[in-house]
Amino acid sequence: MARKKVLKLAFIGGGGIARYHANYFSRHDDVSIAAVADICDASLKHWKDVLEVPGYTAYQEMLQEVKPDLVSICTPNYLHYKPALDAMKAGAHVFIEKPMAMNSRECRNIIAAGRKLNRKISIGFQHRLDPRVQFISQAVAEGRFGNILQSRVYCHRRRGFPNWGVFGQKALQGGGCLIDIGVHALEMCWYTVGRPQPVAVSGNAWTYIGNDPKKAKDVACRWPGWDTETFDVEDLAVGQIRFDDGSIMALECSFAMHHEEEGMNFTIRGEKAGAQLDPLKIYTDDYGHMVNIEPSFIPETEIWETKIRGVIDHVLHNGPNLAPAEDGLVVQQILDGIYRSARTGREVAVR
Ligand SMILES: NC(=O)c1ccc[n+]([C@@H]2O[C@H](COP(=O)([O-])OP(=O)(O)OC[C@H]3O[C@@H](n4cnc5c(N)ncnc54)[C@H](O)[C@@H]3O)[C@@H](O)[C@H]2O)c1
Repeated sequence: MARKKVLKLAFIGGGGIARYHANYFSRHDDVSIAAVADICDASLKHWKDVLEVPGYTAYQEMLQEVKPDLVSICTPNYLHYKPALDAMKAGAHVFIEKPMAMNSRECRNIIAAGRKLNRKISIGFQHRLDPRVQFISQAVAEGRFGNILQSRVYCHRRRGFPNWGVFGQKALQGGGCLIDIGVHALEMCWYTVGRPQPVAVSGNAWTYIGNDPKKAKDVACRWPGWDTETFDVEDLAVGQIRFDDGSIMALECSFAMHHEEEGMNFTIRGEKAGAQLDPLKIYTDDYGHMVNIEPSFIPETEIWETKIRGVIDHVLHNGPNLAPAEDGLVVQQILDGIYRSARTGREVAVR
C-alpha cells in the first residue's frame, strides 16, 4: 500500500496567529508540525510545553536543519518579505499571513522568486471563504447583477487598538487600521465583485486617538493601555478605488472612530441587482416587483478550517490556490495607493 503523503510544516513567528494556525493544522493527519522559529523565549516555551513543537531562535537555522515542505509566515508585516524569500530558497512552499508584505514592490519580488524557484505561495485571506461571500460572488460571476457600478465595504472598530505586538508602529507594520484590518474588508469585497483591475485610488488617513496617552488610559475599551509612545499609524482610513471595468469601491476602516457601526460588512450595487453581506440579501426586480432574495439556510462554516485545509490540499495534492499571491499583490497595490493619496492629497494611479 502506498504511504500517505505527510506535509512537513514549520512556522516563522510563533505568536497569536501562528498558534491559531497550529490549532487548525494539527487537526489533519497529513500534516506534521516540525518546528517553530521565534525570537521570543516565552513564545518558544509555549510551543515546547503546550504544543510539543521544537523551537529555534534563528529561522535560517531552522530552515537548514528541518527542511520543511511548507513554511507558515506569521511574523509582523515587515518580516514577511525576507523570511518568504529565504524559505523558498531553502526549498519550501510558503503560506504568508496577510497583508502579503509591506508594499507592492516586495509582493512582486516574492512572486518572481516563487516562479523562478517553482514554489507555491498562498496568502492568509480567509473572508473570501465565507459561504455568504461565495453566494454573492457566484451570483456576480453568473451575471445576476449585470455590470457592477459601485460597492461600499467597511471594517470598523469603535475603539480597538491591538495592545500586543507592534501594530502601532509604521516601520514594522507599514501602517495602521488600513493594512491591518482594512485589508480583510478590501480583499473580501474585491474578490466578490470579480477581482477587477484597479486603475486609480484616492483616500485619506488620520491619527487622532491612538497617540493620545490620556485616551489609552482613561476611556474604557476592550484592549486598553496600548503603547501610545510608539504609536505612529492611522486610526481611521478611507479610500475610493476606480477599476478598469468602470466600477468604484468605497472602503472605510478604523481602529477608532466615534460611531456605532462595528465589524465588517459590504453592499454592492449593479445594473440588474444589488446585495448586502450581513444580513445576506440580494435586491432585484422580478415579475413586476422589487424583490429581496435571502437564502433560508446558510451552513455554519469555519472559514479558518476551509483556509487551512485549502493550503494543505494546494501544496500536497495540487488543489486550487484559494488565495494566490497575485491577489495579495493587487490588494497591496490598492493599500499603497490609498497611503500615497493620503500623503499627496490627490488621486493616484495604481502601480
Ligand atoms: N488572517 C488573520 O485573520 C490574521 C489575524 C491576526 C494576525 N494576522 C497577521 O499575522 C501576523 C502576525 O500577527 P500576530 O497577531 O500573530 O502578532 P504577534 O505579535 O502575536 O506575533 C508575532 C510573532 O513574531 C515573532 N517574531 C518577531 N520577529 C521575529 C523574527 N525575526 N523571527 C521569528 N519570529 C519573530 C514575535 O516574537 C511574535 O511571537 C501579522 O502579519 C498579522 O497581520 C492575521
